[in-house]
Parts: sequence; C-alpha cells; structure tokens
Amino acid sequence: MASKKNYKAKKRLEYKAPDFTATNIELEFNLSDEYTQVKSVTRYQRLTSDRKAALRLDGQDLELVEVLLNGHPCDSMVEGDCLVIENVPDDFELTVETVIAPASNTSLMGLYKTDGVFCTQCEPEGFRRITYFLDRPDVLAKYKVTIVGPEYGCGVLLSNGNLVASGTKNGRNFCTWEDPFPKPSYLFALVAGSFDIIKDTYKTKSGRNVSLELYVDRGAYERGLWAMESIKQSMKWDESRFNLEYDLDNFKVVAVDFFNQGAMENKGLNIFNSIYVLVDPHTATDTNYFNVQSVIGHEYFHNYTGDRVTLRDWFQLSLKESLTVFRDQEFSSDVASRALTRLQSIDVIRGTQFAEDAGPMAHPVRPEKVMEMNNFYTVTIYDKGAEVIRMIHTILGEEAFIKAVNDYLTRYDGQAATIEDFIVSMEVSSKKDLAQFRLWYTQAGTPHVRASWEFDEQSSLFTLNLSQTLECGVPLKNASAMYIPIRMCFIDGKGNIQNSPELDESGILIFNQDEQSYTFTNLSADTLPVLFMDFSAPVKCFAPYTDDDYSLMLKNVADPFIKKDSATSLINNYVHGHIDKIASGGTLPDPVAIIDAIGFLLTDKSVDPLLVCELIKIPSVNELIETFKVVDLDSLIAIRDFIEKQVALSLADTFKTVYENNRLRGSYKYNIKDASKRALRNSALYMLALARKESEKVAEADALVLSHYEKANNFTDKLAAMTCAVHLELPCKGLILENFESEWQHDALVFDNFFRVQGSAPSEETVYTVRKLMRHKRFDKINPNRVRALIGSLAFNNPKALHKIDGTGYLLLSDVVQELDGINQHIAARLITPLLSFKRFDAKRQEMMREVLHKLISKDNISSSLYEKISAAIG
Ligand code: PHE
Ligand code: ZN
Repeated sequence: MASKKNYKAKKRLEYKAPDFTATNIELEFNLSDEYTQVKSVTRYQRLTSDRKAALRLDGQDLELVEVLLNGHPCDSMVEGDCLVIENVPDDFELTVETVIAPASNTSLMGLYKTDGVFCTQCEPEGFRRITYFLDRPDVLAKYKVTIVGPEYGCGVLLSNGNLVASGTKNGRNFCTWEDPFPKPSYLFALVAGSFDIIKDTYKTKSGRNVSLELYVDRGAYERGLWAMESIKQSMKWDESRFNLEYDLDNFKVVAVDFFNQGAMENKGLNIFNSIYVLVDPHTATDTNYFNVQSVIGHEYFHNYTGDRVTLRDWFQLSLKESLTVFRDQEFSSDVASRALTRLQSIDVIRGTQFAEDAGPMAHPVRPEKVMEMNNFYTVTIYDKGAEVIRMIHTILGEEAFIKAVNDYLTRYDGQAATIEDFIVSMEVSSKKDLAQFRLWYTQAGTPHVRASWEFDEQSSLFTLNLSQTLECGVPLKNASAMYIPIRMCFIDGKGNIQNSPELDESGILIFNQDEQSYTFTNLSADTLPVLFMDFSAPVKCFAPYTDDDYSLMLKNVADPFIKKDSATSLINNYVHGHIDKIASGGTLPDPVAIIDAIGFLLTDKSVDPLLVCELIKIPSVNELIETFKVVDLDSLIAIRDFIEKQVALSLADTFKTVYENNRLRGSYKYNIKDASKRALRNSALYMLALARKESEKVAEADALVLSHYEKANNFTDKLAAMTCAVHLELPCKGLILENFESEWQHDALVFDNFFRVQGSAPSEETVYTVRKLMRHKRFDKINPNRVRALIGSLAFNNPKALHKIDGTGYLLLSDVVQELDGINQHIAARLITPLLSFKRFDAKRQEMMREVLHKLISKDNISSSLYEKISAAIG
C-alpha cells in the first residue's frame, strides 16, 4: 500500500487519450486458491504519433512471471504499479504472465475466492489486479477467455459471451469463452464454482431465442425463480418502452454472497450480491422482492446504457448510472407501482442525497476530481443523476426522449462516450437548447427555491415570486442560476383546481434566473399555488404555507408527492416550532394537525390504499436532522418520540381497525397490492403495540406482537413482529430472537436480519449489543453483507446509538473502520460517512467525532479511500 503522502487526486480536465489501444486479448486462467496463473496475450496498437512513447500498463498486487513481445523475451520495468515497456513497434502482440492469490484477496476487487467460489469484480479498476493491462474504460478489446478449473473441480466455469470449447486438460476441466462485442476491461468477468442452475429461454421481438441461465447456491433453486421471472420482464420491457432488444445468444446471472456492491453489469454475465437474487416467501420480505426485480432490471438495462455505449473515463460514471437508474425506476413504475416507486426514489434524494450535498464530500453529478473512484458510487452520481435525466424527460416529453436516447445509442454504439456527448445528442435529436441545463452536471449542491405570492384585488392579478440560491457543503465558485422545471397547479380555498391561461396544459413553469416573478389571471384571493408536483426538480422548496394549507393540499391534491410532502411538512413545522421547548423544560402542545392528517390518510376512501403506508410514515431522526443546519440531537429525538407516541395514542382505535381490516387470507403471494396491505398492517401493528405499551398495557402489546410472529405465514410479517419486539423492548423480545436464531443461523442471508434488527434498535444500549454481536459465530467481518447488516445499521439507521453522548458509538465505529481498512478499504470508507457530517452536531459531539477522525487519519497505513473522505472532512 502506498503511503498517504503519495495519494493524489486525478482531475477530469487532465484526461488524455491513450497512447496505445488493445484490440484483442486472450486470457488463460489456471485457477488455484493461492497460486492462480494468468496468461494474457494482447494485440496492442499505437495511437499516438509519438514513436518514442512507451507502453505503460496498469497493475496492482501482481507477481510478474514473464513478458514476451511478439513471442520473444523483451526488456520491461515495473515502475510503482505500472509495467513499462519501451521501444515497442506500432502493432504487436504482448504476452504477460502473472500469478495472483484469490483466496487471500479480501478486497473483493479483481479475482477473489470465498465460500468455494472464484469470482471477479473489475469495475472500476479491478482488472489491474488480474494482469497488467490498459485498465481504462476507453480501451475496448475483444476477449477470448480460457478457464482451467482447480484440482478439486468446479463444475461451472463462466466468462462473458459464447462457449466455444470445453473439456479436460491435464485432468482438469476447462471452458473457453468468446465475447463478440469489444468491451473495456471493467466489464470482464469470470466465475468458477458449483451452483444450482435455473434455465429458461426468452424469445426476442424479432424472434431470436436467448438462453437464460441463473446460477445460485446449491439448494437455492426455488429462491432464484423470481429473479428469473424478473429477467424476462426486463427484456420485454426494454423492447417495448425503449425499443432495445438483447444482443447475445445467452444471458447469464450469478449470485454470490461476497460482494462489495449490489450487482455488476459485466457483458452477458451479470454478477449479483445474493440479496438481490434469492427470495422466497419464508426467507424474504416484500421489499426484498421489489428490490430483486429492480436490481435485475438495472443490470440488464446496462447492456445498452453502459455496455454497448460505455464511458470515456470515470468522471463520466453518471452517464451510464443515471440513465440506467432512470430506466430501472421507469421499469418498476410500469411493472410494480409508479407512485410507490416515485415516493421511494424521492426519499433517497431528500434523505441521503441532500445530506451528501450538504457534507464535505459534496460533488457535482460529473465530478472534477477523484482520488479513489470507489468513493464515487454515490447517491449524487446515481440518484441525483437520475433526477437530472428525469428533468430531461420532462423537458423533451416521452416520445422525443425515447427517440433521443435511441439516437444516442446508435451514434455511440461500440464507443466510449462522455456526458457532454449525451447532452449534445439530446439537443440534436430534440432541437432543444440545454446550455443552461448543463449546470445540473457541473455545479454541486442543492438549489434552495424560495416562493411567495400575492393576489392584487384591484387588477385581479396573482403574482408568484421565486428566487433561488445554491447551497453546498463545499465552497462553490461563482454559482449561477439553475434551469428548474416546476410542475405546478393552482387550487382554491376549497381545494378545487383552478386554471389560469398563463400556465399551459403541461403545467410546467420554467424557472431559470436568480429571481423571477410570474403573473397569472383567472385566479382568486384564496388561490394556493401547488409547487414541484411529482418532485419535478431535485431542490428544496421553501414557501409560506400554513398548516391549514398543508392539510388542504394533503386532502385535495391527487399527486402522491404533494400528499407526502404536505404530511412531512406538517411534522417538520411542528418539530421546528417546538423543539426549543424540550431543552427549556416547557410542555409540548398536542400535535393536532399531524394527528388529523394521519387520521385522514388512514380512513379516507379517496386515498390510494397502496400509498397510505408511505404517506403516514413519520420521518426518521436522520431525515429530520437533514432539516437543521445544526441540530440539538437529544431534543430532536425526544420530540420525534413524542409525536410518534401521541399519534399512536390518539389513533389507537383507528390503527386497530386498520390492523384488522388488512388481514390477508390464503397463502402468500408477492404483488404490489398485497405487499402494500402487509406494509400498512405492519405499521399499524407497530403503532398499536406502542400505544398499548404507553398506556401501561405492556402485556397486551406483548401478546399482540407475539401472536403476529407466531401466526405469520410469510417472512415480511415475521420480521415486522420481530422488529416491534426488539425496537419496543417488549417482553417477548428474547423469545423471538432465540426462535429466529435457532431457525435461521445456518442461512447467512436470512440471518443478517437478526443483526440488522438489533443493530438498528433505537436505544443507547445498542452500542453494547453490537459489540457483543460482533463476537457472534455467524458474524464475519470479511463479508460486506454481514458488516452492513450489523455495523451499517448502527452507522446509518441508528442515530441514537451512534451519537450516544459518552462517545462509545463513535469509538465502536472507528474501531471497526480501522480494522476493516486493512481488509476491504471500500467498505471501510463507506462506513465512515456518518461521521463526516460532524458540523451538524453540538460542540461536544463535534469534538468527539473530530477526534476519532484525526486518530484514523494519523495512521501511516490508512488506505486512499478512507484518506480521501476523512481529509475532505477535516482538511
Ligand atoms: N456498476 C454497478 C451498478 O450500478 C455497481 C458497482 C460498482 C458494482 C462498482 C461493483 C463495483 O450496476
Ligand atoms: Zn449501475
């Protein structure tokens, strides 16, 4: 590992085209745990006119055995991580032999072996851990790959493309694969192991048969069926909505339990974290089912947006990710539920992305400088990027948008493109001017839009005044006004829609100056503007609505986001209006407007039952923290607890009715309608149990939750009951945990819920519980799923424990991060995130957080990933 003194950020503007390209590569792997031989034979061509330029290949942690140029030994030097060969001809073949040790590779980048499976992860820069190569996305080559299995045999040997040979060699199995599409090294993949295989076929719309293969753990065949269904749905959807047909004869998906991320779109051979593949009614929740469908869609859609058209350099990451997230969101909207999908995506922006924008790692959708690329797989690149694509969709309209995307894919097919190429394509194809719109890609931060309005009785004119500023956690240089599409409507004091000729049928107002005023006719003194319907731009909007206005919008505007935002705003208003009373010992008034709103949502027939559960959610402590610049955390937790308790107590009877009326008969089926009923019923369960507990009827609460657990015929309900028992500390907690432990301890993926539920229990005691569970025989710090389940829950979903005032939460997290940094720096760097936002907290907590950060960064062997994030935070 290099010393931190050498860690240097790369800049977007320093991009230089490569001096050489590779056109063909033949790889041969002789797999073995600690001594895998990799032989690569690559055809290189000089691109630069500089005849003296040397060939410099990327490598990392490789043992070099031999280098041959056109079959003959040649001079080569290893300089740092690079292999340098001088005096090469313009066109030649280079043979490189290296040795790697997959079984001791805990970084899970490059080739690694765990749980008996050999598996690769090459995005973004993992291929250089396999062999010396031009490991950059703008070098596209055709791959031919031979895998010779290990001694003890691996039944399955896979790589991208088509199987062209197989058999035995010196008593070992081998397979040779050829991928007809040129690709960058980050899309290369290899898998070897023993699996159950689910086979199916898909007939494309032009009538070609594609063979589909899903590889899962031995014995998990049934748990892979929904994923296979989802593959077929994805293929069909991409044909019908985007006119894109699958291009290879086979499509393979493999599920593994050791994986740094969710899944990976390697050409024709997607590799998945098994959480996004394996589901069945007894081991997975409705949310798991939803996520499997969406992630399968996401990786499949990358086949065009990512694989066929790839990236010129990593600063362009959002080019493939934002468009693909937009596509998977539209897929979920079309096949599951548009409103639910939309509300979930908006939560990610307002919860997590706004926090990222306000923190020290804030960056534009197209970043300018990067030290460790793995740190930039962020909600800004992915989810804010998808909102930017959504705005383009809004501006162009569906038909023009689809045509523009198709034109872009045709123009850049087989090439490595940039975000600028994409925008130009959108402009050329739609004839719209996106000059100012580009600021969404270049300026970091969240626009804050302030609105006010007045009605002039004399002229009968309604004026809407808007202003915008850009707010960001890092200093911005001369920020300019953004191009903001505002989807809006007007309602009168009774909640009826009003039309004004100045707002055209699209309902879109373009706001693109620092300040702008718009006048409207045909409105009245009681007119209320309803702004940012469907969250038409990723901004924070501040408007002088009263609680009555929010109630009116919540009850009368059909748009799901407006309903949700009104409910949330009532809660935010209450919190901000009364939080001071907690510290000063005052008494809190009853949150009547909130109770009224939730009561309405639970009982009114006009509200889509699919949405009720989403709409009545009380924002989490983390979401509420995001609404403060500096927060008094203890008071915030207290006031949120108070609201939740009052809602539960006041609406206990309603929750009871909801609980009883949403019982599902018959066996479990996953579909959005049933899933929504279960979700609503399970939130009623929680509120009802809370109400009972708070009115000193603990035994009743306990009986309710225990019977819910025992009667559940599906995992969603079981987990909901277990969560209630643990988070409300009911007497049945021990019994349920024991039962769960003995039932599921041999199934790691299911057992992660045991860690997750306890790691997120909102109690200061959780710090001890987590320390104890880290010694549980099923905990494994090498496995990112285990770490995310236990430590990630505490870090990301448990502000009460993490920010415990004695500092033990911070110590726990920093101990784990420090240990993990030597094992898997990417996971370590992710976990540190919550500590980077120390500026939002009180002096005492700030001090403690800074101290642990300073301690971590003072270590000589700190990784570049962790170094980049901590140094951004503490300078
Ligand atoms: N490209 C993957 C996706 O979003 C994410 C990923 C990044 C996976 C880096 C592994 C490593 O689909
Ligand atoms: Zn992706």
